[in-house]
Amino acid sequence: MLRDKIGNASCIKSATYYDLKILNNSKSNYIITKSITLEPNNPEELNKLVDNRVVLDKNERYPKLFYEYIKGDSFNNCGLRNYGYNYYKDLKFNKPYIISISDTLENIEKILRDGEDRDNIDGYEINLECPNVEGDNNLDLNDEKDIYKILKVLSVSQKPFGIKIPSYEFIRYRKLIIILGRVNKFIKFSWITCCNTYPYNNNGIRCGIGGKFLKVKVKECIRYYKYLLNEENLDIDVIACGGITEARDVIEYSKVGADGYQMATGLIEEGPEIFSKIKKELKTFIYSKL
Ligand SMILES: Cc1cc2nc3c(=O)[nH]c(=O)nc-3n(C[C@H](O)[C@H](O)[C@H](O)COP(=O)(O)O)c2cc1C
Repeated sequence: MLRDKIGNASCIKSATYYDLKILNNSKSNYIITKSITLEPNNPEELNKLVDNRVVLDKNERYPKLFYEYIKGDSFNNCGLRNYGYNYYKDLKFNKPYIISISDTLENIEKILRDGEDRDNIDGYEINLECPNVEGDNNLDLNDEKDIYKILKVLSVSQKPFGIKIPSYEFIRYRKLIIILGRVNKFIKFSWITCCNTYPYNNNGIRCGIGGKFLKVKVKECIRYYKYLLNEENLDIDVIACGGITEARDVIEYSKVGADGYQMATGLIEEGPEIFSKIKKELKTFIYSKL
């Protein structure tokens, strides 16, 4: 579903209808929401963030609590602030609309069940852990029992979905990816996104680092999973996500096997024009090789 495509990564610029519409009008090939939960999560804080964006000029900065950008790297602790599934479930766009979900397995299942009959939702990206949020599902991904719990929940949906891989200890997801891949006749496991932000404790504030800092980790992760998927004969796309701001990054990731590309920090810093910029750069690069 995301093969050969360039799109946004789940981030603060995909949390509100306002920003999702901007993505709809951009050259992004699809739209992925910020990770959402069944119930709203701190919507007031998200509102503050949105108001700031609307009133500030192009030198805007999110309040430090949420987002900071230093020399190519972003630090954020946006956590799972979002307006809740009901806000996102009916939105319609004229490109594939993918809802990123991060919640308990019970709530993920409720969301997937509700989404089954909704034609406006094209797929899901499942984010089993958010690096800047304490506590998660307490899933042990080495334990097959836990993996089957996840599988049971995901099999509720017949829509395509991807799994977001953490940038630390990404090998932990190996068993899950293999098991989901092997039962692909029954579910539509279509892609993995490498990677989420890198966890960092910034003077007691839990942050996730995105941007250029991630590139080495992301390449390592892509190589690892491409090899594994190949060995297992599984047709799952590997999507590069980490520090993409220009065609050079796309080319570097394609050389290690990436099938598609996503960006968050680049989108936040440069705005939605980043998609057309990169696509133009890629065309120029391709023509220069002809
Ligand atoms: C402000 C901000 C908020 C983010 N929120 C989410 C999120 O809700 N869910 C998620 O899976 N990833 C989230 N991410 C991580 C990005 O999707 C991406 O994995 C990571 O930032 C690496 O890409 P980048 O280097 O292009 O930023 C967020 C990143 C940023 C910068």
